[in-house]
Amino acid sequence: MQTKENIPKLITLPKIKDLRGNLSFIEAQNHIPFDIKRVYWIYDVPGGQERGGHAYTNSRELIIPLSGGFTVELFNGEEKKIVRLNQTNEGLLLPELTWRKITGFLSNSVCLVLSDTKYSECEYIYDFNKYVKAFNAIK
Ligand code: TYD
Repeated sequence: MQTKENIPKLITLPKIKDLRGNLSFIEAQNHIPFDIKRVYWIYDVPGGQERGGHAYTNSRELIIPLSGGFTVELFNGEEKKIVRLNQTNEGLLLPELTWRKITGFLSNSVCLVLSDTKYSECEYIYDFNKYVKAFNAIK
C-alpha cells in the first residue's frame, strides 16, 4: 500500500568501478524491499513515443535505465513528480497504486523493470479518475 512512508523513491545501487568496466547489482530484500517475480524491459522505443500511462493495484516495481535515459512522470491527483533516469546504477522504486508514464526516451534506451508480481492484466488501472479514487482510499 502506498503511504507517506512508502512513496516513490530513487535508489542508488552499488557500482563496482573497474578499469575493465563497471558492475552493478541488485539483491532482493536488500536493495529493494521485495522478491522479484518478473523482469521485463522496454526497448527500441521510437522517438516521441510514451509507455505506461496507468497504475497497478498490486505490483511494486523498480525501474532502471539500463541504457540511455528516459523520464518517469508520476501523478497521484495532487502531486506531480518528474524523475529523469539516466544513470545505470540508479533505479526508481514505485509502490503499488502509482500512476506512471514513461516519456522522453533517448534513442537506444533500455528500460528495465523488476516487479514483485507476475503479469496480470486485471491489475491494471487505465482510468485516471478511478485511480485517484483508489489512491485516496488508501492514503
Ligand atoms: P503494457 O504493460 O501495457 O505496456 P506499457 O505500460 O509499457 O505501455 O504491456 C504491453 C503489452 O505487453 C500488453 O499486451 C501486455 C504485455 N505484457 C506481458 O505480456 N507481460 C508483461 O510482463 C508486461 C509488462 C506486458
